[in-house]
Amino acid sequence: QKHLLGIEELHPLEITEILDLADTYVDLNRSETKHGDVLKGLTQINMFFENSTRTQASFEIAGKRLGADVMNMAMQASSIKKGETLIDTALTLNAMHPDLLVVRHPHSGAVNLLAEKVNCAVLNAGDGRHEHPTQALLDALTIRRAKGRLHRLNIAICGDIAHSRVARSNLLLLGKMENRVRLIGPPTLMPSQIGAFGVEVYQDMEEGLKDVDVVMMLRLQKERMDGGFIPSEREYYHRFGLDAEKLAFAKPDAIVMHPGPMNRGVEIDGTIADDINRSVIQDQVEMGVAVRMAAMDLLARNLRAARADQRAAGR
Ligand code: CP
Repeated sequence: QKHLLGIEELHPLEITEILDLADTYVDLNRSETKHGDVLKGLTQINMFFENSTRTQASFEIAGKRLGADVMNMAMQASSIKKGETLIDTALTLNAMHPDLLVVRHPHSGAVNLLAEKVNCAVLNAGDGRHEHPTQALLDALTIRRAKGRLHRLNIAICGDIAHSRVARSNLLLLGKMENRVRLIGPPTLMPSQIGAFGVEVYQDMEEGLKDVDVVMMLRLQKERMDGGFIPSEREYYHRFGLDAEKLAFAKPDAIVMHPGPMNRGVEIDGTIADDINRSVIQDQVEMGVAVRMAAMDLLARNLRAARADQRAAGR
């Protein structure tokens, strides 16, 4: 692959290749050295048009650990504020010869559009409701390490599915790896085209969580609700918030996940989120650095190979 724009474009073997390499980066990150040099000489620019803690920090750490020159564009202080378009901004940065462009944008499809205009590798750090591929990959690595496999698991994704790029990328990835995925949430927070994914849909947590191996909770994404139905947090927590009572319906060794940022007392009880016997939320953050290292390493290899071919063809 030239870019990492979505899970949709990835073959299961490519997913496994990224996860296998990320496993080695988990070990590197836990070692004394922490650093490698596979991105040495490359320039990585992070462009975040939407707020982020985990994704931006982990892409920056990943690039620096692998030797890249990393620049974080302060989008709030950029010429976007003077009316410059996304494409003109990208073309301007492209003229500075970056090698890796990491982009988060509030509009679905914006990152794919940008990738067509530049001649470096583009990584989607989340675009609107569309995709968040590195999140799904880090979730997959977390599941694989906790459960010892990434196939034939019963996985429940719960909450605001309709507005969630995390849910969409996870649905695609977990389906490709032959897991049984269930969605649980109110009908108002289910996407209209959900039938296309071939998954079971539940409106009752106790019914939906029965015998699952993995419980993946999602935040209510009010910033994407466009003035539509916003549930009362109290009512929502009562029906869909994960607490010990509801979790008891899952398998006794079921793990609890959340991509973050989480709203304690809205979609998840704080004691469940902090329970180190059930919650893998901090593991997800750790896997995020390793997965982003692996993704940039593989794209950099392809980029170097493509440039070598171009040079050879020009001779
Ligand atoms: N999970 C996730 O994308 O978190 P951030 O918005 O903090 O990057």
